[in-house]
Amino acid sequence: MNRYTVKSRNICSFDDNGKMRVIDGFIVIGDDKIEDVTARVPDGLDILDASDMTVTPGLIDAHTHLVHAGSRENEMSMKQNGVSYLEILKNGGGILSTVNKTRAASKDELKAKALKSLDIMLSHGTTTVEAKSGYGLDFETEIKQLEIARELNDCHPVSIVSTYMGAHAIPAEYRENRRGYVDLMINKVMPYTAENGLAEFFDVFCEDGAFTLDETVELFEAAQKLGFGLKLHADEIVPMGGAELAARFAAASAEHLLAASDAGIAVLAEAGVTAVLLPATAFYLMKGHYARAREMIKAGMRVALATDYNPGSCPTENMQAVMTFAAFGMGLTTEEILRGMTLNAAYAINRQKSIGNIKAGMNADLVIFDAPNPDYIIYHFGINHVDMVIKNGKTVFNHKNHKKTQKKDGKLC
Ligand code: NIG
Ligand code: FE
Repeated sequence: MNRYTVKSRNICSFDDNGKMRVIDGFIVIGDDKIEDVTARVPDGLDILDASDMTVTPGLIDAHTHLVHAGSRENEMSMKQNGVSYLEILKNGGGILSTVNKTRAASKDELKAKALKSLDIMLSHGTTTVEAKSGYGLDFETEIKQLEIARELNDCHPVSIVSTYMGAHAIPAEYRENRRGYVDLMINKVMPYTAENGLAEFFDVFCEDGAFTLDETVELFEAAQKLGFGLKLHADEIVPMGGAELAARFAAASAEHLLAASDAGIAVLAEAGVTAVLLPATAFYLMKGHYARAREMIKAGMRVALATDYNPGSCPTENMQAVMTFAAFGMGLTTEEILRGMTLNAAYAINRQKSIGNIKAGMNADLVIFDAPNPDYIIYHFGINHVDMVIKNGKTVFNHKNHKKTQKKDGKLC
């Protein structure tokens, strides 16, 4: 058995009530698990000395659109001239332009781009990522996106949890036949995805210009029958009652929630649905406001934070950038932010038993930040503080020689 210990004055761990404790001590690692967190020097073990650094659980990015082709910097000047996100989408831009590029791309091209993003995520401290499909919108391309996510999960240190999101937009060829597209998802793509274990979750963009509440209900019922966990892009732009719907279905998570109503927040809290908030998206859409994280926390909701990495509304893989917007846009504290990217994010992807905390029995997924205390990570913004990333007990990223970053089990992607 490979056993060693990580020593630090700033080990960020969460107690049974979710309160953060900054521990001065040692994390004992045995193979891929955390065996113990202790103030006493463990006997006879090699020490990885991070005394003056800060150690957190591996960051969990619980909302991304990882696999897609192309980029959309052409939309930037439109946005700067006041054209809205939904107007761009209505005119065939936005999601649909990425769909065209994704359909045209080869599997190798798509995989290479996603791999590059995964490497960036890892180097910024992300050890687990949720990845949504939704840039194919036809059977072949959606399945291709999900297969790529599975292949990358098998070869890359970052774990990938997949979500089928065919309900991201109505594809151009079904514009006059929405019913036909909903049927395609329900009768063909969803069953194939479920049978082949290609996704754990199902997600809908329930929004003006995307899917209606009624369509979402029908899709959710079908997804639930097939055993998918449910997620919802809810009340991102227009308050449509998505929060209420996510609560009714006891979804694993309701995401965005920028325009969620007071009643929506109350029922989500009562139903125990995790909020996945995406402050970097609110910033990038130039909304001038953020989701009401403080009210949600007061209402008793579990609030997670994620990037929403995608080519339109949030082209960044960097969870430390999300920390900046959560702190200075939403006014969240360091503790709330770190909890949102670890403990709470694990709930959004149903991994709370194995990741998201530094305590005995959890997977040994850790980030060592070159920061003298947790506040410093957020205070000194705009740079990457990651010194090392440990995944399942192994060093998978080392700032000092990151060219030697290891792939899982020595396999190359
Ligand atoms: O979460 N809102 C829908 N989907 C993404 C944006 C996708 C895109 O613009 O390509 C989001 O913001
Ligand atoms: Fe999204």
